[in-house]
Amino acid sequence: MSQQPPLTISNVKPEHYEPIRRMRLHPSNRAGFLDQGSFSEADQQLYMEAHAASYIVCLSEGEPVGYAGVVENDIRICTNPEFKKRGIGAKMLREIVRRFPDAKAKILRDNVGSQALFERCGVPFILIDRPSPSRP
Ligand SMILES: CC(C)(COP(=O)(O)OP(=O)(O)OC[C@H]1O[C@@H](n2cnc3c(N)ncnc32)[C@H](O)[C@@H]1OP(=O)(O)O)[C@@H](O)C(=O)NCCC(=O)NCCS
Repeated sequence: MSQQPPLTISNVKPEHYEPIRRMRLHPSNRAGFLDQGSFSEADQQLYMEAHAASYIVCLSEGEPVGYAGVVENDIRICTNPEFKKRGIGAKMLREIVRRFPDAKAKILRDNVGSQALFERCGVPFILIDRPSPSRP
């Protein structure tokens, strides 16, 4: 069996901002978040300039394959779909909880994958519901 390249946790640098945006907006990841909207490269630049210090990335061969962060004490986490189920989410979640031990997680009731990750890592979370559509 071929060996996978090592995974390392890093602080976020400006060159990671766009890979983070692409992971966050990937259709199979976007569904896991409450906010389903899109945002531009410029939006991301501004957001990350304000919050990069409370984010981490997981790197494989120098490229981000996942990220996690805490904003307003709320944990957010995401893995590149091509790299899921390799332990990247668990590695990032353990590190983010080590850095931010008081952070909380809110997970959508239908996001069973994320719930399983937090359960596996022993990190408590609360379940939230998607808001009902305002129009039929
Ligand atoms: C949730 C997410 C971050 C997990 O990332 P990942 O790198 O695939 O997670 P890991 O490989 O570290 O999984 C660790 C454990 O979590 C559980 N798990 C992770 N994804 C799962 C899934 N889709 N279904 C069931 N269990 C899952 C498993 O117990 C797994 O351990 P195992 O593979 O030994 O059984 C990833 O699926 C993702 O980016 N989802 C979209 C974004 C999202 O919903 N973020 C959360 C918003 S709060």
